[in-house]
Amino acid sequence: MHETIDTLLQEGRTFAPPADFAAAANVNDPAIYEQAAQDSVGFWEGWAKQLDWDQPWNQALDWSNPPFVKWFVGGKLNACFNCVDRHAAGERSGKTAILWEGEPGDIRRISYSELKDEVSRLANALKELGVGKGDRVCVYMPMVPELAFAMLACARIGAAHSVVFGGFSAESLFDRINDGQAKAVITADGGWRRGSVVPLKRAVDEAIQMGCPSIEKVLVLKRTGSEGLMTQGVPTPAYDQGKWVEGRDVRWEELVPRQSVECPCESMDAEDLLYILYTSGSTGKPKGIIHTTGGYLTGVMATTKWVFDLKEDDLFWCTADCGWVTGHSYVVYGPLACGASVMMYEGAPDMPDKDRFWRLIEAHKITILYTAPTAIRAFMKWGDEYPERCDMSSLRLLGSVGEPINPEAWIWYQQFIGKGRCPVVDTWWQTETGQIMITPLPGITHTKPGSATHSFPGIEAVVLNEEGVDLGAVRKPGQEVGGYLALTRPWPAMTRGIYNDPERFIKTYWSKFPGKYFPGDGTKMDGDGYFWLLGRVDDIMLVAGHNISTMEVESALVDHPAVAEAAVIGKKHDLKGQAISAFVLLRSTHQNRPGLIDELKAHVAHKIGAIARPDDIIIAAELPKTRSGKIMRRLLRDVAEGRALGDTTTLADSNVVNTLKDKYESMES
Ligand code: WT7
Repeated sequence: MHETIDTLLQEGRTFAPPADFAAAANVNDPAIYEQAAQDSVGFWEGWAKQLDWDQPWNQALDWSNPPFVKWFVGGKLNACFNCVDRHAAGERSGKTAILWEGEPGDIRRISYSELKDEVSRLANALKELGVGKGDRVCVYMPMVPELAFAMLACARIGAAHSVVFGGFSAESLFDRINDGQAKAVITADGGWRRGSVVPLKRAVDEAIQMGCPSIEKVLVLKRTGSEGLMTQGVPTPAYDQGKWVEGRDVRWEELVPRQSVECPCESMDAEDLLYILYTSGSTGKPKGIIHTTGGYLTGVMATTKWVFDLKEDDLFWCTADCGWVTGHSYVVYGPLACGASVMMYEGAPDMPDKDRFWRLIEAHKITILYTAPTAIRAFMKWGDEYPERCDMSSLRLLGSVGEPINPEAWIWYQQFIGKGRCPVVDTWWQTETGQIMITPLPGITHTKPGSATHSFPGIEAVVLNEEGVDLGAVRKPGQEVGGYLALTRPWPAMTRGIYNDPERFIKTYWSKFPGKYFPGDGTKMDGDGYFWLLGRVDDIMLVAGHNISTMEVESALVDHPAVAEAAVIGKKHDLKGQAISAFVLLRSTHQNRPGLIDELKAHVAHKIGAIARPDDIIIAAELPKTRSGKIMRRLLRDVAEGRALGDTTTLADSNVVNTLKDKYESMES
């Protein structure tokens, strides 16, 4: 990458925190940034003291063997105790911990004292199955309360969970079970998704059949009771038929309800493994990202309280599935450590209609919504009438995570969902960071649409050039700079490494800039010192000697009224090095028409500069995305460069690419 990223997309709007919001916010004094910067270890210790410890730590930070960090050395605590028991024992005992709605519309409300009983029974059941401290348990479930129970029950007895997203295939499950050497799988017969059953137990059977010698037991929850139902044209067997393996498979309802509700929490070392979570990475085999107990809980609790301004009577809805880190940190551990009420929803946002999210907000009076740009762009595409017909006046804060949010989507979110009243927090972080790292604080930060703004107090993020020079420090006052994002100090929830692969951990994150963590993302820092994350550095194009971020061309396209979503790639070009190809989805209110493509090209040239004008634009019906909603640009590059399609196993819908390929090739001829 060159010293600067030569993109020019300008977004000038700023939004101050609403005065009443700021006055009542959990944090509203900007001096906190300076204080935390002066003594970041003391800052994190202050948060750690808000947890319940069996034994205090004797050293807050051990950074003597970087990049392997230890926080709260010598301290002992239990994550489940901190998320459940301490609330159940006090004034929150009857407070709703989890409010859940299934896709078919079934509703459950679980109080903290009920949660303690549920989790304790399941923990005892796991012990009866032979699972204990130090073991790994694979959790492969739909988004039902039992998924949270399973994570907490593992934490309670000191077993590490490895949650595998229910949308992943048997093959992904097989890889993850074997890498983590899981002793048991907790699953369900199926889960509901857009009216169909996702046959989870069947996938577990397939995975184990491929060879998972570490698995001794499979605990199966009955969720769909799906005998006779059709899934993609195939009848789904009842969960206890088909490949039921006696001695290995255990019915939840036969084992769990008869267990005692007394189950002591294991006292864990602050650095004991809490969980493994696999992240695909751009190439190669998935990385088992590991998180430990004391620092992780500290980081997620602190960020939940300050980023989301979480208060006692909030109903907090992070729409992520627990199969992703967002679900780990901001459905389960962060909010429950704070004693919050958490919303969980099982299914799709367009079931039975495209207003399901807004109906949920209206019905349950959700106060905080945390979702992803890919969802926001889908809502924009579906049209404004869906949110408009619901009363969402309970909302007071909106959050975004997962990829850069383009300014148009940010503004739409702020206007149509937040009605201009709610601060919007765009939060940058990763599976590896465990906690939110770059984000506004809603009572302090003046936000700019599309910018994640500043690093959280106690965190230091910098922009480096190829040689590792801190561009923010050497620039002229007010100058914009661009380069690689890096983090300079250890933080409590940072990953402790890749399971069984310390070399890969060092090589991937710590070798580009020795002593600093390199997350793999590019960023800009504007004249006011705001961060504008640009996505993975692999997603930066080099067009005729200029670095242009795919994300900024996408933002310029989405800025056009006809465009709902865009994916941009650089394809090989003899003269320019790379030429820009764009795949565009139109809004439901627009159709393709003669001249539209030229108009879109001109729009990009107008917003960014002639250098960014796309060579070709394809109007597509769908974009290839991973199941977590990230656009698979590698596949689009394959399409644009006429290569055979590479690995498509993590695609949510593999037909999408073939359709695009046909379309692209017919256009070329
Ligand atoms: C990558 C991490 C962290 C939860 C979900 C994804 C991108 C994430 C933002 C944001 C710009 C973002 C980065 C990051 N990303 N949030 N607010 N602005 N980019 O977790 O699967 O580990 O992906 O997602 O590229 O490195 P993940």
